[in-house]
Amino acid sequence: MIISLTSHDSISDPFPPSQPVPPEIFFGRDDLVSDYASLVVRNEQTRLAILGSGGMGKTSTALHVLHHSDVVTRYRDHRYFVGCDAVTSADALAALILQIMRVPSTAGENIVTVLHRALVSAPLTLLLLDNFETVWDVNSRRDRIIDLLQKIVNAKSVWLILTMRGTMPPSGISWTRFGSLPQLLPPDAKRTFLAINPSLNNGDRRDEEC
Ligand SMILES: Nc1ncnc2c1ncn2[C@@H]1O[C@H](COP(=O)(O)OP(=O)(O)O)[C@@H](O)[C@H]1O
Ligand SMILES: [Mg+2]
Repeated sequence: MIISLTSHDSISDPFPPSQPVPPEIFFGRDDLVSDYASLVVRNEQTRLAILGSGGMGKTSTALHVLHHSDVVTRYRDHRYFVGCDAVTSADALAALILQIMRVPSTAGENIVTVLHRALVSAPLTLLLLDNFETVWDVNSRRDRIIDLLQKIVNAKSVWLILTMRGTMPPSGISWTRFGSLPQLLPPDAKRTFLAINPSLNNGDRRDEEC
């Protein structure tokens, strides 16, 4: 099939970013994922912050929670992954969330207000704000970021998961739970290493002796 690009296909009119799936190679976090999933399907509105240093598995863990069968059953299609990697302002984040939720914004109106209104009238929704450190650390107007987060959790049908580098979650929000991911246990770290480097898993058992 030939897909032709027209003048309509421009960077100013982008499609929403693709929603990622959880990584297949994922060891040693089953209990934690189940624990987080049970938190997220509670009837009480939940705000969960998954913290830790880079590469610990925050995004992978959050994606597995987002795709946990109980979570899928509860939220159906109203589960949204919002990658904040390239976002540096509250307005840009609000615009991105609206785009991913496919809510049209109204010209001339404050974009955060549009988002708040959309979330307040939304059905039961699970929002995952991933790599939030970008917008949190870079932005000089943290008050605006806090205001945006407060408007998100003010919507009573919106449950929030946030992942962020560091040891403390954003201030101004009453978090249901926050904490750093524990390190993988050595056997799980080894399985991960061998899964990423299959050529090293050559059948001899020398590594078992280490
Ligand atoms: N439990 C795990 N088992 C196997 N691979 C993992 C696990 N956790 C993370 N990874 C891999 O490690 C890399 C970094 O994970 P990621 O979730 O992006 O970390 P973070 O979000 O904390 O920076 C990715 O390639 C991911 O697939
Ligand atoms: Mg990440």
